[in-house]
Amino acid sequence: MRMKTWMPVSLLLLSAPLALAEPLKAKPDDKTVWIAIGTDAIAPMQETFAAEGWNVPTALTQQEHAGVFQLKESQLSRLAVMMHEKFDRCAGFITYETQEEALASLAPVSPQATQKAVSYTLTNAATVNSLMGALSASNIRTTIAELSAFPTRSQTSQGGVDAAALLLTKWRGYVTGAGRTDVTVAYYPHTGWRQPSVILTIPGTTLPNEVVVVGGHLDSISSTSAAPGADDDASGIATFTEVIRAAMARGYRPQRTVKFMAYAAEETGLRGSREIALWHKNNNVNVVGVMQLDMTNFKHPNATSDVGIVTDNTNSAQNQFIRNLITTYVGVPYTNTTCGYGCSDHASWHNQGFAASIPFEGTVVQKNPNIHTSRDTLANSDSTAAHALKFSKLAAAYVAELAKGGMP
Ligand code: BES
Ligand code: ZN
Repeated sequence: MRMKTWMPVSLLLLSAPLALAEPLKAKPDDKTVWIAIGTDAIAPMQETFAAEGWNVPTALTQQEHAGVFQLKESQLSRLAVMMHEKFDRCAGFITYETQEEALASLAPVSPQATQKAVSYTLTNAATVNSLMGALSASNIRTTIAELSAFPTRSQTSQGGVDAAALLLTKWRGYVTGAGRTDVTVAYYPHTGWRQPSVILTIPGTTLPNEVVVVGGHLDSISSTSAAPGADDDASGIATFTEVIRAAMARGYRPQRTVKFMAYAAEETGLRGSREIALWHKNNNVNVVGVMQLDMTNFKHPNATSDVGIVTDNTNSAQNQFIRNLITTYVGVPYTNTTCGYGCSDHASWHNQGFAASIPFEGTVVQKNPNIHTSRDTLANSDSTAAHALKFSKLAAAYVAELAKGGMP
């Protein structure tokens, strides 16, 4: 984790209103709600609240056409009356249960996000179950052990280059073993450093121009001592490497194109994924969804959930799809969590307007204390990889339900 002495602008914006005193008339059990309201109605709302003797709300965010405010549920009816009297609008504002939904409602929607509105459906259980049935924790454990054996996998190190080669060879082995001539495995070279990214592509049968991405970072930090990066992020790479193995073993043919990506140079600022996401944007590739797997194999002793859904710098509709996949296919508890900044490669895709999500091994608050140290070992995470297996199941479900297709 970065140690920050500064606060990102976004956090400053969000945290200031939380310091507001409770409105005077708020009942003790009065729920906090968030509203998005048209710019023209903001001053009248504030005047109405002042006349009522309530605290005058200030905007959490204010854009050209609308602003977001934190209110109490009991204040909504008075606001609705004012809106009706002054603007002849029925309500004229939208109420949200969470701050993040309210803020997301104003977030600019980029062209990529709307290129093709993908519908999230759970209609492919036979394929999900076939893939999930082929997954094994011991294979995940083996891959983590192999990757974490390099002294470091940093982008400028020999270990970083050799780790990419190890993945290329391993993935090609699965592909040729299954006799799949349609599937490609290739380096994605970068000019700024030695370590390439690695990409496996399964072309879609009926919708080849729509692309589903599952990825994680293959590098570990640069350090004078060892940087095994077993959890961060050999675990994520191993998690989807097992999905690749299962997909090849079962002869999976997706309708949409599926790309598995091991990104170089995440630890120095999401650099590999940034170049790759930019390439997809610049080439007008319709990436319909991205799942990032970064840290999947450490369960905090006090954890009450198995999966943390990171709700910032991610796509909320796809996050809901992932919650549905967990409930239907994985059957483990999940909870929301936030990084507070673009903490992994999902942010590279999100920043280019693609729908990205990152199901995380727990909450960011209860994070693995050993990452970015020589203690980030398999022994100090889940040495059976049972925790990571849950994420392999989730990634298999994500691929089969978003890319569809089956085993002909
Ligand atoms: N896997 C971490 C991010 C992470 C750490 C997420 C702990 C949740 C809990 C990632 O590899 C990382 O270290 N990211 C950097 C930021 C990045 C922009 C270089 C970080 O968090 O400092
Ligand atoms: Zn890291």
